[in-house]
Amino acid sequence: MARRLAAGNWKMHGLSADLAQVEALCAAPQPERCEVLLCLPATLIDRAARLSAGRIAIGGEDCHANPQGAHTGDISAAMLKDAGASHVILGHSERRADHGESDALVAAKVLAAQAAGLVAILCVGETLAERDAGRTLEVVSAQLAGSLAQGADPANLVVAYEPVWAIGTGRVPVEGDILAVHAALRADLSARFGAVAADIPLLYGGSVKPENAAQIFALKDVDGALVGGASLKAADFGQIIAALNAA
Ligand code: PGA
Repeated sequence: MARRLAAGNWKMHGLSADLAQVEALCAAPQPERCEVLLCLPATLIDRAARLSAGRIAIGGEDCHANPQGAHTGDISAAMLKDAGASHVILGHSERRADHGESDALVAAKVLAAQAAGLVAILCVGETLAERDAGRTLEVVSAQLAGSLAQGADPANLVVAYEPVWAIGTGRVPVEGDILAVHAALRADLSARFGAVAADIPLLYGGSVKPENAAQIFALKDVDGALVGGASLKAADFGQIIAALNAA
């Protein structure tokens, strides 16, 4: 069975003062049945990792596909690792939309992240237009296949299903839809990697809140969540972690 993971994604939020939220999360009793991860802006990773001292995992939100080079403003996987990160989110729909990231680029980033010793959290998800056209499964399967190059390591991979229309909107797919997509992702991963695919955590992301977390975590093949807005405050994220721990 896949290990369970409550992952926060602060996106472009967080100044020094917000490290108090990391401190609060670390000070709380740690869950026994799931892992806790905060993916933070690069400027906070080093300090958050020192604060946490291993009590929770710290991750980045993106990395470059190359190990180093003349790429002003970019950050390499090795830099994230060096700063104390253990994970990195890749192919988030905001990166795909705002920076035109293709599946091929995301696939190269996954390899780069894993080569540097990071766990890659690969995001896939359909737009509302794709869902309305009945293309959800086709779209997420194609993104998954296109974002995993030859050599991608299933042991250092997490897949997050994040419907674009559910991110930051308060709208969540009905349970049957999450079930269907997670089952399809698991089947695709099994076809690709064989038996070890059962150990790849599958997260749901998109408007996960303390109020709906338990319902989502009760679903088969949902091994945790990638949480945006509700991860910014330790009190809210703590409730989501507790729901996963109890599921
Ligand atoms: P949200 O974001 O929880 O604010 O909807 C989720 C994400 O984009 O990872």
